[in-house]
Amino acid sequence: MPYLQRIDDRRSYSNFGPLVTELEARLAQRMGVDPGCVVTVANGTVGLTLALQAVVESSAGYCLIPSWTFVATAHAVSGAGLTPFLVDVDEGSWALTPDIARDALSRIDGPVAAVMPVAPFGAPLDVDAWDRFTEQTGIPVVIDAAAGHDAVRPGSSPAVVSLHATKILGAGEGGYVVCRRPAAITEIRQRSNFGFYGSRDARMVGTNAKMSEYHAAVGLAAMDAYSNDVSGYRAVAEAYRQRLSRRQQIGFQAGFGSAWCGSVCVARFFGADQARLMARLEAVGISSRAWWGAGVHLQTAFAGLPHLPLPVTEMLARETLGLPYFVDMTDTDVERVCRIIEHAF
Ligand SMILES: Cc1ncc(COP(=O)(O)O)c(C=O)c1O
Repeated sequence: MPYLQRIDDRRSYSNFGPLVTELEARLAQRMGVDPGCVVTVANGTVGLTLALQAVVESSAGYCLIPSWTFVATAHAVSGAGLTPFLVDVDEGSWALTPDIARDALSRIDGPVAAVMPVAPFGAPLDVDAWDRFTEQTGIPVVIDAAAGHDAVRPGSSPAVVSLHATKILGAGEGGYVVCRRPAAITEIRQRSNFGFYGSRDARMVGTNAKMSEYHAAVGLAAMDAYSNDVSGYRAVAEAYRQRLSRRQQIGFQAGFGSAWCGSVCVARFFGADQARLMARLEAVGISSRAWWGAGVHLQTAFAGLPHLPLPVTEMLARETLGLPYFVDMTDTDVERVCRIIEHAF
């Protein structure tokens, strides 16, 4: 309420008003960069598109993305005028790595304009390794860290975080881009504001992707509540891990709920069939989610995209499942979910 009150007091409702500016400054401080290294956006998807437009040299060609991601990654690439080229992920980290990208480059015919690795369900990526990748290949990288607010680290490539209501820091809708190169952030800011920057001359092609003051108010309130929320999530993650990790057939992402925290809990059930497990949970009224479906290559709109073999993506799509996970979930709730899962095995 105090944040909302400030909006009417100042009569400033959008266009990089005081609350958006404060949110950007607080995000920058949290990540240890200057405020000029962070810009808020209306949502993560448009942030990814604008970041790509800011770093690519040509507005045509392929952008390598993992097929193991949410479909927004592919939409964002298409929005920037590039063609998503789908590659596989590493089985240990569930992420597209620089080594996988280098191998793909040697096998792909045609110009690769950019690479967009994805921080899977918020797990941190090796930002330094991606910076080295760009130095060595000359190919720009934009990191899709949509779920990665907790663990995102600024590098020379723009990283885009979503502030959607489902994320660990939620503003309803929203997002931000962080990059150690302020020039890239200035360009993204300009593209998010009709190409305007300091005048009413559209100096480049852009759109309206600004965050409103209302969303910034919710984002600021969410930042105030953040450490409390994260403690709640970590406790639930710990309860799941303690209960399920003794079984060799069940695994979690490395560092999940301890080194980093996300707002979803995706477990891998080695050798299991996700659909069967999902049905067993549903039968007793417990919802679960295949957050990323069967991979982007099997989404109707993207079925015709070029891709390399995707065995790890297909395995993860079969063997992983998003379990119920919310900030005030009780030990009894966790126990109930785990009992059904163990029974299903
Ligand atoms: C991997 C990934 N990329 C991009 C997005 C898009 O973010 P937004 O919903 O803020 O547009 C999401 C959203 O869940 C996501 O999970």
